[in-house]
Amino acid sequence: MSVSLKTTYLGLELDSPLMASSSPLGRTIEGLHRLAEAGASAVVLPSLFEEQIEHDTYQMHEALEYGAETYAEHAGGFLPEFEAYNTGPERYIDLVAKAREELSIPVIASLNGITTGGWVEHARRLEQAGASALELNVYFIAADADQTGAEVEQRYLDLVAAVRETIEIPLAVKVGPYFSSTANMARRLTEAGADGLVLFNRFYQPDIDLTELEVVPNVVLSTSAELRLPLRWIAILKGRVDASLAATTGVHTSEDVLKLLLAGADVTMMASALLRHGPEWIGTVADGVRQWMVEHEYVSVEQLKGSMSQASAPDPAAFERANYMESLITYAAPEV
Ligand SMILES: Cc1cc2nc3c(=O)[nH]c(=O)nc-3n(C[C@H](O)[C@H](O)[C@H](O)COP(=O)(O)O)c2cc1C
Repeated sequence: MSVSLKTTYLGLELDSPLMASSSPLGRTIEGLHRLAEAGASAVVLPSLFEEQIEHDTYQMHEALEYGAETYAEHAGGFLPEFEAYNTGPERYIDLVAKAREELSIPVIASLNGITTGGWVEHARRLEQAGASALELNVYFIAADADQTGAEVEQRYLDLVAAVRETIEIPLAVKVGPYFSSTANMARRLTEAGADGLVLFNRFYQPDIDLTELEVVPNVVLSTSAELRLPLRWIAILKGRVDASLAATTGVHTSEDVLKLLLAGADVTMMASALLRHGPEWIGTVADGVRQWMVEHEYVSVEQLKGSMSQASAPDPAAFERANYMESLITYAAPEV
């Protein structure tokens, strides 16, 4: 029995739900070819940061170099040269244009910022360069005690609306999970113009180096255990927001992908897994997805997508508080 992995994301028809998330693997045209050859159905480029556009690119380069050194020590696996993650808008725009020219899969550009400044105009330049869609990553740490939750949310909405006004290509918005009412925020983001939500951004937590007595920005790769957060929210939001749903954070195995599709994801994105095992890991995951579908008599990804979302699940409360109480009460403590 042959199975179809085809899916639709942001109106783009994709061969499978296995996308490459924004990461250093996509920072060169060679890296992008390798991702496409390995079976990525679409790629999100590493972000062009607001700071890169607004500030001196040399400083940005140094900051990224610093992060990369620390990151390399922790990753311990496949890691491309990190120098020049992207050194500026011009190179970035060239990469978008070249990638679109040479790759047969959709290429999604990524803008990363938190203000509605002039840098937002770059969304138009990315569109003109041929980007198939734009992913807007809003990475905002609400550290100002004078700023209310409502003000923080408005900031996100204004930014999404400003980018939406600037471009006509599909717009995905990548956000973290830290809102008082995640479902309400998801809905308002789509009302502000997001065609898709990428759930969830992984906020890198700074660490303290006890030897150097320094705060260090080390990146730690994810594990499958982190999947539960996007899994719950995708299940809850499926059918409740008028937007495509992409899962990011904790997607490593075919089981992870299947769970997210059942919950209602249109696509799943991998960064850590591909950094750890190399882009060819996508093929292993795809084989596992196909095999499971055959064993469970699913003929298409479309058929299984969302069949265990909260709206479709036999026990909808399992995604909410009921599950919490039951898990705690029935927890069997290990013998120590
Ligand atoms: C080294 C590294 C660089 C990343 N760079 C970006 C980036 O430029 N823009 C972005 O939106 N996400 C970036 N991410 C986040 C990933 O796209 C992804 O959302 C996150 O790592 C969670 O997915 P994972 O569990 O598959 O790693 C980066 C992640 C890593 C590990």
